[in-house]
Amino acid sequence: MLNFDYHNPTHIVFGRDRLQELDQLVPKAARVLILYGSGSVKKYGTLAKVVAALPGRTLVEFGGIEANPRFPTLMQAVAVVRQEKIDFLLAVGGGSVMDGTKFVALAAKFPGEKPEELLFHGFQFVPQDEALPLGTVVTLPATGSEMNNGAVISYQNGKYPVLSPLVFPRFSILDPTLTFTLPPTQVANGVVDSFIHVVEQYVTYPTGALFQDRTAEGILQSLIEIGRKTIDHPEDYETRANLVWNATMALNGLIGAGVPQDWSIHMIGHELTALFGIDHAKTLAIVLPAMWQRRRAEKGDKLLQYAERVWGIRQGDRDQRIDLAIERTRDFFESLGIKTRLRDYGVTADRLEEVIAGLAAKGLTALSERQDLTLDGCRRILQDAL
Ligand code: NZQ
Ligand code: ZN
Repeated sequence: MLNFDYHNPTHIVFGRDRLQELDQLVPKAARVLILYGSGSVKKYGTLAKVVAALPGRTLVEFGGIEANPRFPTLMQAVAVVRQEKIDFLLAVGGGSVMDGTKFVALAAKFPGEKPEELLFHGFQFVPQDEALPLGTVVTLPATGSEMNNGAVISYQNGKYPVLSPLVFPRFSILDPTLTFTLPPTQVANGVVDSFIHVVEQYVTYPTGALFQDRTAEGILQSLIEIGRKTIDHPEDYETRANLVWNATMALNGLIGAGVPQDWSIHMIGHELTALFGIDHAKTLAIVLPAMWQRRRAEKGDKLLQYAERVWGIRQGDRDQRIDLAIERTRDFFESLGIKTRLRDYGVTADRLEEVIAGLAAKGLTALSERQDLTLDGCRRILQDAL
């Protein structure tokens, strides 16, 4: 097991009918900015319930945070923060709203002239020692943003990770019933995004980390068990509650502590979203099968473990088992209604060099758990994903 620090300060408030507890969670004298997306929280009544649960505070609303939240939109929110002397941020929405709110928390306290600089620290923490406090009300289980220290922000033609221990939410309300209104494709996205968060921290190379491996396998098996069911029966509380908690645990640092991590599928996926507007989770479902085919030697031992423990594959030689595990995984994504090839989204071979150029422009030229995945390797993976 590798050395690690583990600290997660987010207070999780899980279950039905917990929204009114916002009154205890948000400071009484706070000047609160409530941030939300394109309107689902208005349409389905969540925003009204949030407002009703916060009597006595000064409340200001900022709507219109788009999927894959954009820097200029978030800077408009920062202007509102300054104008209204806001001292607490409340995100009500999915990963995009939570991530956008985290960025606003940092940008509002950015000490320099150009908050764009927050975007260019890669997987290092941003060098800043102050941020506004924030809480979240989650309406889409997928990203784990409700219990982690990361955000992904769209800027010009790219998507940029922004990490800081200051942006762990103070609290996150996870009421599975708030997610019942999600369209099936967003639920499927949530299952696939969570699944791939786990494998980016698990399908690397063995380090004898029994807790992390067994927990990762448990989350994967849970997602396989409930994935189709929670799409078909959106108001089955127990099933949806399991999606919500598995999604959170998939990316809150627990299974990633002390083990190598990859994140190549995400880095290539981010380019596909930025260039072609494909939903985040769908880009990952496109890249994963091709990534594992190409990286079967480097990831072989963990792929065999995954094949056996997650899918029960015990027959055949090493290559046959790995092939079958990749096929099962692709079939699982497709069974949720998520297409797994670039051509399914209208992306053709002549566009692949733009993806490579995007990776190169961000310096993402040595990806993977061993930093040995070159641009040429990424090009081959993309060709296989056509
Ligand atoms: O904008 P509104 O109107 O709210 O509609 C949203 C949006 O159109 C809708 N929606 C959300 N909750 C709903 C609902 N519709 C009906 N009922 C509800 N209860 O769903 C659509 C998608 O929302 P979005 O927040 O964009 O989806 P998701 O949660 O999948 O977030 C994706 C973003 O998270 C980033 C991605 O890059 C992407 O920008 N990620 C963040 C991570 C993190 N912070 O750790 C890790 C991830 O790997 C990921 O990269
Ligand atoms: Zn993701």
